[in-house]
Amino acid sequence: MLAIIGGSGLATLPILEITHRQVVRTPFGDPSCALTFGRIGQENVVFLARHGFGHSIAPHEINSRANIWALHNQGVRGIVSIGSVGSIAVNLETGMLVVPDDIIDYTWGRKHTFFEGPDKPVVHVDFTQPYCPHLRARLLAAAQSAGVPIVDGGVYAVAQGPRLESPAEIRRLERDGATMVGMTGMPEAALAKEMGIPYAHVCMVVNKAAGLQPGADEIVFDPGVLQQCKSRVDVLLETLLGI
Ligand code: HPA
Repeated sequence: MLAIIGGSGLATLPILEITHRQVVRTPFGDPSCALTFGRIGQENVVFLARHGFGHSIAPHEINSRANIWALHNQGVRGIVSIGSVGSIAVNLETGMLVVPDDIIDYTWGRKHTFFEGPDKPVVHVDFTQPYCPHLRARLLAAAQSAGVPIVDGGVYAVAQGPRLESPAEIRRLERDGATMVGMTGMPEAALAKEMGIPYAHVCMVVNKAAGLQPGADEIVFDPGVLQQCKSRVDVLLETLLGI
């Protein structure tokens, strides 16, 4: 079974034929919401809305340990994580999908490992490949066969939020090599790695990052752009899962 984590604007997955929901408790507290089980095409899927069904959980308040533990406990064989980002690199236009291949974590104060406390071993999980190359390749191949425009690779900067960034912060991220910025990619990716779950991200470019929209003195969010991204994600997932 594949897991899909939906981010902002994706609290439900309309293409999912829902069979049932299950409330799960974990040793790390409660996940963002009940798990939703169903099918997309040929595949059994479990869906989790990262911000809760009513989008009530802010990025820094997400209990990623509970979310990842709950999915691991279901025996999922992979996680496709969907999230929205602001673009930093000029080639990333709004409305595009990106499958990043690297990540920089700027978050702080989040519970970011399963390996802490007196009863746990000290583990330094390898993060040379933060995203699963095989799952990334499957996503890119599905996009290509469906004719969905998608960008292969990029560096996802994970900001703490919930506020958006200042222009100087964005310039710093750019100097660091980041090509896009979001708020939820970590610690989720690292926790999936600790659990040994193949994990890949599909980023929806919903805005240009602070200071990068010519002529605008604030960030512009266009609902039409989000809708375009969501439609592309639907087609991508349907193709990935064999419709
Ligand atoms: N910054 C941080 N997170 C985001 C943005 C942004 O511009 N857009 C969507 N998520």
